[in-house]
Amino acid sequence: MCGIIGYIGDKCAADILISGLSHLEYRGYDSSGVALMHGNDIDIYKASGKLINLIEILRTKSEVTSISKIGIGHIRWATHGLPTTTNAHPHTCTCKSLTLVHNGIIENYQELKEELAKTGAVFRSETDTEIAAHLIAYEYGKTQDLLHAMQNAVKKIKGAFAFCAIHKKEPNKIVVAKRNAPLVLGVGQGENFIASDIPAIIEYTKKAIYLSDYQVGVVTKDDIKIYDDMGNPVVNKVEHLPFEAMAISKMGYKHFMLKEIHEQSDVVRNNLSGKLIDHNKKVILEDFKLSPEKIDKLSRIQIVACGTSLHAGMVGKYIIEKYAGIPVDVEASSEYIYRDTIADEKTLVIGNYQSDETADTITAIKQVKEKGSHIAIITNRTDSTMARLADSLIPVNAGIEVSVAATKSYMAQLISLYLLAIYLNEAKGIDKYKDEISLLKQEMIELPNKIEALLENTSEIQRVAKKYSSFKNFIYIARGINFATALEGALKLKEISYINATGYGAGELKHGPIAMLDSDMPVLAILNTGVVYDKVLSNCEEAKARQARLIGVTNYISDKDRRLFDDLVMIPDASDILSPALNIIVLQLIAYYIAEYLGKDVDQPRNLAKSVTVE
Ligand code: AGP
Repeated sequence: MCGIIGYIGDKCAADILISGLSHLEYRGYDSSGVALMHGNDIDIYKASGKLINLIEILRTKSEVTSISKIGIGHIRWATHGLPTTTNAHPHTCTCKSLTLVHNGIIENYQELKEELAKTGAVFRSETDTEIAAHLIAYEYGKTQDLLHAMQNAVKKIKGAFAFCAIHKKEPNKIVVAKRNAPLVLGVGQGENFIASDIPAIIEYTKKAIYLSDYQVGVVTKDDIKIYDDMGNPVVNKVEHLPFEAMAISKMGYKHFMLKEIHEQSDVVRNNLSGKLIDHNKKVILEDFKLSPEKIDKLSRIQIVACGTSLHAGMVGKYIIEKYAGIPVDVEASSEYIYRDTIADEKTLVIGNYQSDETADTITAIKQVKEKGSHIAIITNRTDSTMARLADSLIPVNAGIEVSVAATKSYMAQLISLYLLAIYLNEAKGIDKYKDEISLLKQEMIELPNKIEALLENTSEIQRVAKKYSSFKNFIYIARGINFATALEGALKLKEISYINATGYGAGELKHGPIAMLDSDMPVLAILNTGVVYDKVLSNCEEAKARQARLIGVTNYISDKDRRLFDDLVMIPDASDILSPALNIIVLQLIAYYIAEYLGKDVDQPRNLAKSVTVE
């Protein structure tokens, strides 16, 4: 996590750094800082807490800070040391001639610290980053050259990093380095930019160079030079950035989360475009490279993912097993990587993620690549580390998601998994579900309209959210394909409102959790007409008999059963199999409006970050 930014050119560096950091806040937001260079001086400004605190500090010093045309900045998600001003980046070496920002984790920092202490280094913070500042400065002492110092230092560092460093004696350059952490160089005219992610620079340039792992670069106002790990100059491709600046504005919505929830109909349309053309035509997945012969020989599929992406994977299991007849295991990447997982060349491993750098999932994919399994990646970032490791890609085309709580990316992942299940079915030539799949395809094509109908009037959802916003605990129940919807809905509520919500398979309620039920524990039940509808209704009866207040989310309810529920939210009619795509929107909105009603920081909930780059 953490975001880094750098600017070198003719404009006010402070303004560009702050604007960039504001677009990187999704990566962390517990402290921030900038280092501004003017002449041979470097001034550092830092603040704990939200970025606004740093902005206030800079505002009071604008006469000084506006002069600088070169600078680096950072927004932090604390790993080593508390989120204090002292631990905020940038960090400096003992004599403060070298200043550095860092994203990643230096694994051998204790060892390096001991060695550097012997050279007289004075440590001021609890961070691993400060050790890198001392190490590069130590190497600078030997070489008197910032590029060489960086090249020598990174060879001694274990772990993940993206660095931006400046030095008082070399005032017209920023030196950067990268390994297992993202870093993009924005190419301008008479100015250049450095950032952890595109939103930070998209306002200024559409041209960028992606630094590869083990590369080191020197960025000046008119030039970017890159070197490989042997120190040889290399030329990286200049790429056109895919995003529009507009995509990172709230477009009139109060929060990014609400905007992103409302974008879900377009997300489905974009994702289906070119892949599902007609209910009579086969699904096209251009970048899915497994031949029909190899698909036929697959003995298992493993989906590895975290958090919300894991929940999408659980829906995927249900549909892939049904339509493709291949056993599917879904596992949290963090568990998958620390056991002897069984995977071979007859295994298809699917990595599913919304950010581009989830450390656990990257590790899982790297591990399994060595076993010869085919790796397919469901991704919103075809330029990501995992996408580069993959044999097959399923791009979700969701556009950039800013809110930490994943919503539209979940929708995009669901759609991709439906497409994949159908694709595998068709590649295997399974006739059994032909008619059902044709109906499903038609329903998927119509899904954007149903989503729009649902989102057209959310007043009932808002009323329910307000009514239940004072409860401290919730239970979410569902069965079958919506079991994962219950888990995901509960996760949404937890992460943005900090209310304790737990999802259960409705049938599991009576095996323990029912003991918690009383009038203070609302139960939200998702029930869609289909095989488990009556079963979930019975589970609702059991909850009602324990005085629980019942909220139903459903596509159908008879007059007889309506009396069971204290509140009901109806979704447009949907087949059981596709209903997760509609039910989840209700749950996203309930979470959103409860959090909003409680005055929580919806887009940047405490303790979280959008990209979880630590294991
Ligand atoms: C989603 O709302 C969460 N912020 C979180 O669970 C997220 O889904 C998880 O960290 C996984 O991220 P990824 O999809 O980028 O791997």
